[in-house]
Amino acid sequence: MKVIIGDRSKISSLIADIVIEQVNAKPNSVLGFATGTSPLEVYACMAKAHQEGRVSFKSVISFNLDEYIGLNGKHIQSYRYYMDDNLFNHIDIDKKNTYVPKGVGHYKAYASKYDEKIASYGGIDLQILGIGSDGHIAFNEPGTSFDSLTHVTDLMEMTIKDNARLFKDIREVPTKAITMGIKSIMNARRIVLIATGKSKAQAIYNLINGPITEEVPCSILRRHPNCTIYVDDEAYSLVKEERLLNGKGI
Ligand code: GLP
Repeated sequence: MKVIIGDRSKISSLIADIVIEQVNAKPNSVLGFATGTSPLEVYACMAKAHQEGRVSFKSVISFNLDEYIGLNGKHIQSYRYYMDDNLFNHIDIDKKNTYVPKGVGHYKAYASKYDEKIASYGGIDLQILGIGSDGHIAFNEPGTSFDSLTHVTDLMEMTIKDNARLFKDIREVPTKAITMGIKSIMNARRIVLIATGKSKAQAIYNLINGPITEEVPCSILRRHPNCTIYVDDEAYSLVKEERLLNGKGI
């Protein structure tokens, strides 16, 4: 696992460049997208690159990591809405090739077919990931099996509290979600994770230095053959502190 340190704009544009390179090399790439505030600048850079004619997404297939249960795609807090609003409406991707797990209707049946659907396109070439302050990836909370595929899950109190900042009231935050599993994520051929800000420092410390355990879902990424973590100074601060204390330098 590689670690790259830079400010938010720098690491966002580096990740966008990786996506652009991937799509230019393989126009029908299968991309895995994350939501949350972390990848917003990455998506803005991708949209800009498209508008400047540096990349076309017209043959790309995309799969999103997760969705809240109970929110349909028209709900402003749904991840489908987020993706349309922050990326898909600004690039030439064919929306029928964009898969975001369904959080309404027969979502359990949908979950059980999601990994097959990904496999039917040959698997994910490049997965973008964020991270929760409790170390969750997608909505795989601490304790989730490393063998998990797409499933429906309860959200932890910490995640509900963290995500409440995006809702008017904490009582509006859904308590369940449909999420790709840890195994579904690990199946991606290449993973790039972005984390910025102090609130991610402990999770990044655990990811880099802690034990590999289901109690810290992100820790499994250390076993991935092609995973790079992009962090800013604040997110890296606890790792840096320890390295300096041990005389190892940054
Ligand atoms: C949610 C999402 C995750 C995301 C996390 C962090 O829980 N399901 O995929 O990584 O939030 O969000 P943010 O980037 O806003 O800190």
